[in-house]
Amino acid sequence: MKFIDNDQRPMGHGRMLRKEDPRFVRGKGLFVDDVQLPGMLHLAILRAPVAHGRLVSIDVTVAEAHPKVKLVVTGAMLAQRKLAWMPTLSHDVQAVLVTDKVRFQGQEVAFVVAEDRYAARDALELIDVVYEPLPVVVDARAALDDGAPVIRDDLAGRTDNRIFDWETGNRAATDAVFAAADVVVRQDMVYPRVHPAPLETCAAVADHDAVDGALTLWCTTQAPHAHRTLYALIAGLPEHQIRVISPDIGGGFGNKVPIYPGYVCAIVASMLTGRPVKWAEDRSENLTSTCFARDYRMRGEIAATRDGRIRAIRTDVLADHGAFNGVAAPSRYPAGFFGVFTGSYDIEAAYASMTAVYTNKAPGGIAYACSFRITEAVYLIERLVDCLAHELDMDPVELRLKNLLRPDQFPYTTTTGWTYDSGDYEATLREALRIADYAGLRREQAEKRARGELMGIGVSCFTEAVGAGPRKDMDIAGLAMSDGAELQVHPTGTAVLRVSCQSQGQGHETTFAQIVAEQIGIAPADIKVVHGDTEHTPFGLGTYGSRSTSVSGAAAVVAARKVRDKAMLIASAMLEISVTDLVWDAGRIHVVGDPNSSVTIQDVARWAYGSGELPEGVDGGLAAQVHYDPSSLTYPNGAYICVVDVDPGTAVVTVRRFIAVDDCGTRINPMIIEGQVHRGLTDGVGMALMEMIAFDDDGNCLGASLMDYLLPSALEVPDWETGFTVTPSPHHPIGAKGVGESATVGSPPAVVNAVLDALRPYGLRHIDMPLTPSRVWEAISSTGLRE
Ligand code: CDP
Repeated sequence: MKFIDNDQRPMGHGRMLRKEDPRFVRGKGLFVDDVQLPGMLHLAILRAPVAHGRLVSIDVTVAEAHPKVKLVVTGAMLAQRKLAWMPTLSHDVQAVLVTDKVRFQGQEVAFVVAEDRYAARDALELIDVVYEPLPVVVDARAALDDGAPVIRDDLAGRTDNRIFDWETGNRAATDAVFAAADVVVRQDMVYPRVHPAPLETCAAVADHDAVDGALTLWCTTQAPHAHRTLYALIAGLPEHQIRVISPDIGGGFGNKVPIYPGYVCAIVASMLTGRPVKWAEDRSENLTSTCFARDYRMRGEIAATRDGRIRAIRTDVLADHGAFNGVAAPSRYPAGFFGVFTGSYDIEAAYASMTAVYTNKAPGGIAYACSFRITEAVYLIERLVDCLAHELDMDPVELRLKNLLRPDQFPYTTTTGWTYDSGDYEATLREALRIADYAGLRREQAEKRARGELMGIGVSCFTEAVGAGPRKDMDIAGLAMSDGAELQVHPTGTAVLRVSCQSQGQGHETTFAQIVAEQIGIAPADIKVVHGDTEHTPFGLGTYGSRSTSVSGAAAVVAARKVRDKAMLIASAMLEISVTDLVWDAGRIHVVGDPNSSVTIQDVARWAYGSGELPEGVDGGLAAQVHYDPSSLTYPNGAYICVVDVDPGTAVVTVRRFIAVDDCGTRINPMIIEGQVHRGLTDGVGMALMEMIAFDDDGNCLGASLMDYLLPSALEVPDWETGFTVTPSPHHPIGAKGVGESATVGSPPAVVNAVLDALRPYGLRHIDMPLTPSRVWEAISSTGLRE
């Protein structure tokens, strides 16, 4: 165990190398596809080649005759067992296997179970399926046309493709402010469909024991406990007989929150064959059929005074959810946390309306590295603010400084009803300006513009809302969003912390040990963190939406404080003195005014399990458990500055510098925070410049491989320059706020704002993401100003 610069805090928070890395760098991690069980079979899924088509017939006889094939299952066979459809996390249903018609290209039609994965794949070719093509709807606007084909005719009484209409804010009050405003700027913008594309694709190994009825499922899930409950409900299995193990996970980013048909197929296959069954999708399957993100068309309007005081914001959104509404958001929030679209500013009035529709695309709306649609909300406001700066011919930083919330306004309740806990937004922005040398950059830009060079500086100030969520407001599929933690200190003074959150690379085994170490003074090296196995961890809703530190982290703190309180009582018996005369000092308990009369937490642990006398009413052992219900969300914030160069000859955008200042309250491990921020910034550059899942008119997915769906690599990103401010959350027990997704949320508008700033000489105000060379080139050409 190594601390890097922990001189002041040897025991708890601080830079510390990750405890989990030795096993990863030595190839000793255990991912689902590494699981090998005796007699294990392999499952492959036949996927639909068409995006919309009635299933006319399906013949599996030749596939069944393949010498290595053990089982072939169709939708009709699942229907006999009432397993052809499963509930989604947003009160919709999704086909496990097609029974009536295909609704998106890549949908699951049948599966084969064979002795090895090659035979299973080969046998898919032997299944003969006839589809009757149906008209395809890929455009969200066309989905609302009169006479548009009804995609979800499985839902009783459905005559159109509308999923829901939603609104927030005060329409009349907002309209009144707009009517009286000096300046109104309107901008349509699209947040394109993108994919979380985790390094490890989705996979499962199901092992059903027909004798005792127990099911063990190794699975790529970000929420093992919630999945277990849902399997009990879907498959009718007793919950105590189901064990979900989520071992090492190679990135989730929201992609591994839903239950996918492949997981259910693996369970069914194991139950039918009596053998363990593995399913692991390939890259194309992951990119074409697991949940997508974004896909919002937004019309935004911003109203302000002539001198740049923002007064109101209004938006109308068309949300494309694909063929099944698989969105994972708290039940009462069909549009996730899009309601936080007033951002970091003090705004008088706001109103948003939204319509969500079904289209012939894979299910969408996943919270890809963000807290439930807040990425779209931040993009909307941060682009609108820049459009306003453009209209007013004002510096975008000056405009933001005029409108940012002030520290004395916290806790601040937005006009749409979200109560931000704390922040000093101006300090965060000023720190970013300092690191960037903003004035120097503007001087450099002026010189370059004079020479015809295109350099741009983009700013974004964002507020995230993480730590879902208080049980009074939030549940997913009826399960309250609170988290468990159990801490056990052993007689020899080492400890085990069991948590319900699920690391997918965020380093929880390190940071959660640090959280406990800070509270009870046992070194992080002596604290083991157990997660990802429902048999060995307390119930909780898992890891997504940057909720781990805010919720499970808080649970760990409270459990540790309970242990500390008990340790104090035991120490009072050991030192034969009243507990009120004792002081806690980082793992050592001593008598007030007499530091030499002391015991360590290790001494107390030995005593707690030994035969020494305990105080009246205190039982033996040293352990505590907690189920933590957060009183509110935490609201991290940040200020980002991006510097780009646009090649006037090729329209290629190069991100030259990126300055990210984040405020996530109390920082547990700054090194891990920086890693999280670096990853999120890379996501942001990818979305702003490269990533988009497109479809042709027939619904063919054009981003089915990493040749077509471009992800940024180290070559496309600069050396990140990070900074921080610290405004603790007043309601989190150690003042920590989440940070895992802040950079994904905050960076795309900074990049886009920078490119539009570079293109200022052309008078351009907006180009939709991704800002590929061809899009930028077309936009420049459309102005007629290119020589
Ligand atoms: O839920 P998820 O783990 O994705 O997000 P998070 O709670 O924001 O935490 C991401 C990682 O950063 C975890 O290892 C946290 O413990 C760490 N972190 C930290 O060191 N200090 C904070 N204030 C917030 C997160």
